[in-house]
Amino acid sequence: MNITVIGTGYVGLVSGTCFAEVGNRVTCVDIDPIKIEKLNKGIIPIFESGLALMILQNVKNKNLFFTTQLKEALENSDIAFIAVGTPMGDDGSADLQYVLAVAKSIGQLMQKKLIIVDKSTVPIGTADKVKAVIQKELDARVVAIEFDVVSNPEFLKEGAALVDFMKPDRVVIGAESKYAFKKMKELYSPFFKSRDRFITMDIRSAEMTKYAANAMLATKISFMNEIANICEKVGADANQVRLGIGADQRIGYSFIYPGVGYGGSCFPKDVKALTKIAKENGYNAQLITAVEQVNDAQKLVIAQKIVNRFGKDLTGFTFGIWGLAFKPGTDDMRQAPSIYVIKELVKRGANIKAYDPKAVNEAKEHYLKGVQKIQYVDSKYEVLKDADALVLLTEWKEFRSPDFEKIKSQLKSPIIFDGRNQYNAFNLEAKGFEYFQIGKQ
Ligand SMILES: NC(=O)c1ccc[n+]([C@@H]2O[C@H](COP(=O)([O-])OP(=O)(O)OC[C@H]3O[C@@H](n4cnc5c(N)ncnc54)[C@H](O)[C@@H]3O)[C@@H](O)[C@H]2O)c1
Repeated sequence: MNITVIGTGYVGLVSGTCFAEVGNRVTCVDIDPIKIEKLNKGIIPIFESGLALMILQNVKNKNLFFTTQLKEALENSDIAFIAVGTPMGDDGSADLQYVLAVAKSIGQLMQKKLIIVDKSTVPIGTADKVKAVIQKELDARVVAIEFDVVSNPEFLKEGAALVDFMKPDRVVIGAESKYAFKKMKELYSPFFKSRDRFITMDIRSAEMTKYAANAMLATKISFMNEIANICEKVGADANQVRLGIGADQRIGYSFIYPGVGYGGSCFPKDVKALTKIAKENGYNAQLITAVEQVNDAQKLVIAQKIVNRFGKDLTGFTFGIWGLAFKPGTDDMRQAPSIYVIKELVKRGANIKAYDPKAVNEAKEHYLKGVQKIQYVDSKYEVLKDADALVLLTEWKEFRSPDFEKIKSQLKSPIIFDGRNQYNAFNLEAKGFEYFQIGKQ
């Protein structure tokens, strides 16, 4: 099939590449000429495990193309995916300007029957808006071209995006015509070897499914963090409580790790957008509002532990940070807890030395740009040299089983603040560490 994917961010680039990988001819379009120039030179603008190799192979096989020219891309396409950003607007709702701008361009440029797929996470009712915008442009051109608008929300996780896309748990398709359902199933069939995992539904339900999924996962995280905070007050250990409740199949072990809260490009904005959607429709989403409030506070729990240990004024203290990305496996720092923790420590006068396997450039160029007193270091042990404590904020694999003797020899005193509960408190205390974690006094 010939496909256009509009927006070459995390979702567009992964989707386009995976569609190419199974034999489709895919053209990825972006308005950012620098991004497209880089991609055409084989320079991949984001880090996602395995992605660079898959892109290069598909470009070589002439299955995958990059351009800024939407008109050319649409010429031969049966399906056009909209995968542009839907960032949080000033009032907390999803900003649809990019999605609707793309819809307008499609209406101005399309020449033949087309299925337009909303892959971006969009508020309920957006497909209707996209449809209206396209129709308005077609009317202005005085042409009658058939088109479908489909909702196909994306559930991939950054850090495991290729596996998620190539072997999805489910593919949700919201559409109105048999033709659209048939074409979408045809497109996704190569991703299901053993059994069909399509879930077909009406468009609004598909749009809502994405928000409900993210809100559910964020709720699990905030729930467990709240339990962890109560554990600390009552002298319980949240790590043990996690195992105790996770064993119940109705609860399960996933997404109940106590920690520094969720970040990333999706949960914060989608949770906020959902409360906004509810409000606009006359409903006060109390639980989902609380999920966000708990998370905002949680990002600073580890900083508070540092203050409790070193005092309110951190002038003269240096903290070695392990991990800047919002989660392992990505260089994405959007809404990363590390931003909030580091800014809080710097505000109190601390010096920061930071290490992350992939996200240092993002920190330097965007998310911590202009923040004074940060030094970036190339190795996880180097960062600890003459630091007063190690602060772990992202659970990269290389932090799982470090050389604790080496850590001890680098730090001024053996103190670890673990925002991801990676280590065994008993073992660390036996090795002479002062060890602080989430959900345990
Ligand atoms: N990142 C994730 O893990 C993830 C997972 C599931 C769903 N989503 C959703 O997918 C959507 C995209 O997210 P992302 O993280 O890939 O975004 P992103 O910000 O990484 O990328 C968006 C891209 O769209 C491009 N763009 C903007 N306007 C354009 C236009 N008019 N024409 C062509 N390109 C244009 C931008 O230049 C950018 O490259 C969002 O709605 C997000 O909520 C993201």
